[in-house]
Amino acid sequence: MADTKNVLRPPTEVLTRGFDPSLSVGSARPAVFRSSTYVFSSPEAAERAFDLMAGRAQLDADEQVDLVYSRFNHPNSQILEEQIVPLETGATSALVFNTGMSAIMAALMAYLKPGQSVVFTVPIYGGTQKLIQTFLEPWGVKGIPVMAGQTEAIAETIRNAPDLGVVLIETPANPTVIMTDIRKAVDAVAERSGPRPLVMVDNTMMGPAFQHPLMLGADIVLYSATKYLSGFSDLLGGVALAADAELMKKMRSLRSLFGTILQPDECWMLDQRLPTVHLRMNKQSKNAQRIAERLVRHPKVKRILYPTLFEDAEQIRIRLAQCDYPGAMFTLELKGGKPAAFDFLRNIRIARNAVSLGGVETLICHPKTTTHSGFTEAEFAAAGINESQVRVSVGIEDWRDLLSDFEQALEAV
Ligand SMILES: Cc1ncc(COP(=O)(O)O)c(C=O)c1O
Repeated sequence: MADTKNVLRPPTEVLTRGFDPSLSVGSARPAVFRSSTYVFSSPEAAERAFDLMAGRAQLDADEQVDLVYSRFNHPNSQILEEQIVPLETGATSALVFNTGMSAIMAALMAYLKPGQSVVFTVPIYGGTQKLIQTFLEPWGVKGIPVMAGQTEAIAETIRNAPDLGVVLIETPANPTVIMTDIRKAVDAVAERSGPRPLVMVDNTMMGPAFQHPLMLGADIVLYSATKYLSGFSDLLGGVALAADAELMKKMRSLRSLFGTILQPDECWMLDQRLPTVHLRMNKQSKNAQRIAERLVRHPKVKRILYPTLFEDAEQIRIRLAQCDYPGAMFTLELKGGKPAAFDFLRNIRIARNAVSLGGVETLICHPKTTTHSGFTEAEFAAAGINESQVRVSVGIEDWRDLLSDFEQALEAV
């Protein structure tokens, strides 16, 4: 039987592992190390560090390696990468990037080569879709979009895609909140013969608190840390995590080449936010659920897209199988089209009309004319995005104040 006495739980581990105060002159919390380069303890240590970095040698157990240069790694990225691991259930290794997009780019570039295909769910974050369609496709990778939530169609596409390298799932989808079954996609990958494609999940919307893709068989979890992980709308960052630490090696060497590591100050800031991710997300989810379940009865609201308000049996099944809580994002569909949506945005007082999500402050935006404005009419129709929708990312304010604010803005519509 495992010795449970020595197994720390994530809220404890995130505050205790990966940081040695003696390396920060006794400071109880990590210091910031802004140096771009590091002094070697000996020429032999420098030679060893370069051999390890280039893959010419393997790290011995408990070996301490000299730091080299901050584009490769630095103390603050090392501390952050150690401390973030316990937050992602099933992870053993992490890498931090200067944006969510650079984490996604490194993952796709590491595991796709020209001639291969990538199956991805739509709607997906606009930047990700553009990366696939305007960069990877001309580079020789075939992008195959599949509708989020269509469990059977997704499995069929995965089984039949030619030379499939990667399956990229974003769930729930933004702004429609449609959920895709991660385990079913993993099962479909297992049914293929030949080299096994990797399943990657953009877990920005629900993770790390409410959805655990590695436990469902996914290979790599990706984040825009700009959102819930950092939580204050004041920094850009990205994270990749895996159960198999080997998967991070290729991405680490691409990150060194691309120069997309997260800078020391941002690492330090993000590290300070990790112990409160679950607290913030729990409060945000409770607020969102209370507000959405009340606003849905408002006469000026046509419907609300939110996990506890799902009516489709398959969507309800996926939510129950995959998510611990419903999360803090909902999309209001107003009666009265775009004028009603714009009136609502003009009249809101507490929430801010801004893109992005996951911060402690409530943000609202009109997806059709902002975050998703690059879609064609056919893509809008297929994704279920229309002009009467307003997307809400709920913060940690008192939910009763937010509800009154939404109600007064609806009255003004
Ligand atoms: C789901 C999702 N993935 C990735 C990104 C890209 O992250 P970043 O803006 O940090 O590059 C975003 C940004 O909005 C997002 O919402």
